[in-house]
Amino acid sequence: MKEDLVLPATREAGDDAAAEPLLTVSGLVKHFPVKGGFPIRRTVGHVQAVDGLDLTVHAGESFGLVGESGCGKSTTGRLITRLMEPTRGTITYRGRDISHATRKQLAPIRSEIQMIFQDPYSSLNPRQTVGKIISGPMEINGISPEGGREKRVRELLEIVGLNPEHYNRFPHEFSGGQRQRIGVARALALEPKLIVADEPVSALDVSIQAQVVNLLQQVQRELGIAFLFIAHDLAVVRHFSQRVAVMYLGKIIEVGDRDSIYTRPRHPYTHALLSAVPEVALTEGEAPPRERIRLAGDVPSPISPPSGCRFRTRCWKAQDKCAAEEPPLLRLSGNREGHLTACHFPEDPTTEAREEDIVLDPALAALEEEQG
Ligand SMILES: Nc1ncnc2c1ncn2[C@@H]1O[C@H](COP(=O)(O)OP(=O)(O)OP(=O)(O)O)[C@@H](O)[C@H]1O
Ligand code: SF4
Ligand SMILES: [Mg+2]
Repeated sequence: MKEDLVLPATREAGDDAAAEPLLTVSGLVKHFPVKGGFPIRRTVGHVQAVDGLDLTVHAGESFGLVGESGCGKSTTGRLITRLMEPTRGTITYRGRDISHATRKQLAPIRSEIQMIFQDPYSSLNPRQTVGKIISGPMEINGISPEGGREKRVRELLEIVGLNPEHYNRFPHEFSGGQRQRIGVARALALEPKLIVADEPVSALDVSIQAQVVNLLQQVQRELGIAFLFIAHDLAVVRHFSQRVAVMYLGKIIEVGDRDSIYTRPRHPYTHALLSAVPEVALTEGEAPPRERIRLAGDVPSPISPPSGCRFRTRCWKAQDKCAAEEPPLLRLSGNREGHLTACHFPEDPTTEAREEDIVLDPALAALEEEQG
């Protein structure tokens, strides 16, 4: 019988947390088999949802993971929280390899890694009171806080900006933003060290998004919890993440500290994403939106991604080399430390207005054409 994971003692604030990452992901791969054929169904291919992903998250850090729909963000989140088994690669949490840890082996760290989901409607049990929902994880893990679970739930409700008196209410009695706050309180109940938040605000009204992002930011800073914040919108991540990774078709194509990614991006796709997102007015005095970048074609199928650079079918800079050789994720000359880019012909490190009129979202382009 395999032994339970024994984890090293938690670092105290002030330790050189940078020395050892909280989470390290190395060469992570998740391929989903595609079945076909009759009468015998066989595996005819694989969806390469995540295809060789490396990332690290440090204690207390907020790390943003950004990319278009279907690029593998949620799969990455589910692999890290071990809701899904990786095909290959290593996930190391606090120095221990948890890539293929069994349920029993994972038990000691289950409480330390929590997930917040996109949909605040379906992620809460409609038949349970808020008190029951938030105290559920404590019950499952046999945790009895000082003063009792109810007292702790009321404290948590207060932390997330809800009325502690609403302990006995049901989810349908709350608005979307309030329900997401309940989800946050549930994630906090076990005092996690890492929260994977998968599109936590994209189902909410724009006016509510900023409030929930601000709450998460407050939680991250005041409680020192590390976040892997998954979003398709670079604008949302900007205000929240110290470091940002950009994904395209199962791979990270650029990663770096926030300033590098937003003010000195090198990868053409990062330029495209930056130019396409509508700015969310989280703070006053925001810079005006950049000129748009028009990308030809749709995202290719992850079942048979393009050879070489996966972005080449939509890249305005593509050359023969891009089809022949996959560009490695490297610190290019001109990149700051920790800023890595996977591109043979990178952009100059600037986001100054471009000459081309380039738009990422074909639907947006169609709408604009319609409107003349
Ligand atoms: N259980 C599954 N079985 C087969 N294919 C899957 C499964 N889960 C995800 N996929 C596929 O893997 C790819 C990545 O999906 P994933 O949900 O990780 O993308 P995402 O970046 O989170 O997208 P979105 O922004 O739409 O949430 C997609 O092509 C998706 O269809
Ligand atoms: S490697 Fe080539 S195709 Fe890929 S992003 Fe760079 S220039 Fe474009
Ligand atoms: Mg997703």
